[in-house]
This record gives sequence, C-alpha cells and structure tokens, in this order.
Amino acid sequence: MKVDTSKSLILENLAGRQTSSVPVWLMRQAGRYLPEYRKIRRNAGSFLDLCYNPKLAAEITLQPIKRFGLDAAILFSDILVIPDALGQQVSFVEGLGPVLNPLTPQKPIPSNALERLTNASKNKLDSIYEAIERVATEKTDNCTLIGFAGGPWTVATYMVEGGSSRDFQNTRSWATSYSKSFEILLDVVTDATITHLEGQICAGVEAIQIFESHSGVLDGPGFDQWVIKPTQRIIDTIKRKNPHIPIIGFPRGAAAQIPRFISETKVDAVSLDQSVPLDWVCSQIPDNYPMQGNLDPIYLLGEPEKLHFHATRILSAFSNRPFIFNLGHGVNKETNPEMVQRLIEIVRNYNNCVSTEI
Ligand code: CP3
Repeated sequence: MKVDTSKSLILENLAGRQTSSVPVWLMRQAGRYLPEYRKIRRNAGSFLDLCYNPKLAAEITLQPIKRFGLDAAILFSDILVIPDALGQQVSFVEGLGPVLNPLTPQKPIPSNALERLTNASKNKLDSIYEAIERVATEKTDNCTLIGFAGGPWTVATYMVEGGSSRDFQNTRSWATSYSKSFEILLDVVTDATITHLEGQICAGVEAIQIFESHSGVLDGPGFDQWVIKPTQRIIDTIKRKNPHIPIIGFPRGAAAQIPRFISETKVDAVSLDQSVPLDWVCSQIPDNYPMQGNLDPIYLLGEPEKLHFHATRILSAFSNRPFIFNLGHGVNKETNPEMVQRLIEIVRNYNNCVSTEI
C-alpha cells in the first residue's frame, strides 16, 4: 500500500513504506556545477577550510534545496575529514584532487592516531556538527537531513594511495600481503567513522549514507573482509544506540555482491550505481526493501529527451516498491543546473501522472 505523508517522503521510503510521490535528491547536489557554490568557494581558501566553516558549510548544504526544492539535504563535507582528523594531513589540489602523504606497511598508521580524534582535530569535527545544527534549525520537516561517511575500505584507499587511483594496487597489495597490519588500519578508520557518525546524529542528521565508492575492485573474499565486515560493525554499533536512524549503503561497483551486502550488513537501504541492471536487482531483492539510484549522471550532460527517457525508465522499474530517485554517482561539475531542474521536474511530473491514474 502506498502511504501519503505530510512529513518526510525519504524517511517513509527508508522505513519500507512506498509513498505516492517518489522523493528525489542527488549525490553531489551541492558543488561546483552551481554558480552560488563557486562564488563562495573562490573566497573561502581551501576546500577543507570550507568544510570546517560551520556557517558556510550550512549555507552550501542548503543551496540546492533553495534552488530546486529537493527532498533531502546532504551535509556539505567530505569523506576525507576522517584521515585529516586522524592526523594524516589532507589537501585538495586543483585539477588533481585529494593529496595525502601515503601510509605503507613499513610506515603504518601511528598507534596513537585515535587519540588525536579526542585532541587537536576534535575542534574540526565539532565545526561539522555545528554546521549540522545550523541546517537542522533552518530546513523544513519535509526535507530530510542526511549525514555521511566514506566506507572504511574507500577511505583507506585514499590513505594508502595518497590520493585517487585507477587500480588501487598499493591498497590491494597491502590488504592481501600484510592483512594483519591492514586490519589495524581498517579498525582505526572504522572506530573513527563510528565516532563521527554518532557526532552527526547527536547534532541532528535524520539518516546516514555510507559511501563505499571503491568497493568494486575487490574479489569475493576481499569484499567480505574489507567491505562487509567493517560495515557490519558500523551498523551494529550505530543501531544499538540509534535504532531509529536509517542507514543507506552505497557499495559502488559491488554488482552481484549487493544481495549479500544487504543481508549481512542489515543496511536499511541501498543506493545503486548505474551499472546495476534493474530487472536483475528487482528480482533479487524483496519487494518491500527500499532502494535508491541509479541514473547515470552523464544524461545530465546530454539531450533533454534522453534524460527524460532514462529517468522514466528507472521510475517505472521501481514503481512497485519503496524508492528514492537519485543518480548512480555524483553530479558532474560540467552539468548545467537547468538540466538538474528538468530532472527534478521529470520526477515530480511522473508522480502527478501516477497519482491521477489511481
Ligand atoms: O553534495 C554532496 O554530495 C555532499 C558533499 C560531498 C562531497 N564529497 C563534497 C565535495 C560528499 C558526500 C562527498 C563524498 C566523497 N568525497 C566521496 C564519495 C562519493 C564519490 O564521489 O564517490 C569521495 C570518493 C570523496 C573524495 C573526494 N572529494 C575526491 C576524490 C574529490 C576530488 C574530485 C573532485 O570532484 O574534485 C573531492 C572533492 C570534493 N568533495 C568537492 C566537493 C564539492 C569538490 C571540491 C572543490 O570545490 O574543489
């Protein structure tokens, strides 16, 4: 049965209750494709300075809500605040992306890294919680505030590769050849992630997404050990104290491992990247299980007719289950905001058509 609610469509769908309107938000909905973001960014110093500025981070979080009226606001921050908080300095270089001084099996994470979380870097994380408090007081009830963290495997790839990578060779090689010391690193990242997510919940986020963007490079046993196991620990721990906060997993590239990821981690919903075939996933996952995704963001760069065709294809594939419309990955920086506006209208118009049919 589809329910109508004056409150959060996102929270209804995450609770497994399909709503007559499909809610929509977009990964990377705040960012460089928006002129109002670029304006703040130009004057703000470094990207991380912006993440640690509560007033500006809150303002950027709300920019796409003010412009498009989306159903969720995702906190403006980054998954790499965790290595930064653990004392492994992170910088963002124009045209290159994140840069870190890489960890190696010979130069692993310092044994006191977790203590740093309670010392120097505590202020930085506190500034993120202050941004959340600001957004929570400004937003309306029907706009859900989503907090997030990277999956420990994905965060560890940045800590070991020293930045973005094509094949994650150093990380995979450390994980397989020195699995004990790699496990220590993942444990530290997992503990820090739990602390950070609990801080976000205390400050007022209403749902959480875990971005495991690089899970697609692991084989079956690697996926079990380095993705499922730490995610299980995060979810078990968070749910013990906060059973009411839904958690969305985004195991990007996990393909046929998605059903196992759901059943073993007990994540409340999954976000699907664009490579997942919809008929296959709908046949594998129970009808009342909430899913999110999976439009290829590339359609936002192309012809409006194609955007319409593919958005509608996805809406119709999920028309009989709890579903949150989203992209398969983040909005590209080259995207024209008018195309995002069109996409939101496609979802809203589809909702209207479906409800007049009933
Ligand atoms: O709007 C939102 O989605 C919320 C904010 C958000 C950002 N990063 C802001 C950001 C979120 C949820 C992230 C997650 C993130 N960060 C991921 C997981 C999702 C994914 O994209 O796979 C990853 C892998 C990162 C790490 C990261 N941050 C990289 C590799 C880069 C450089 C690449 C790039 O696009 O420049 C970033 C920088 C970043 N994070 C920007 C933004 C808005 C651009 C920074 C700028 O303004 O220069």
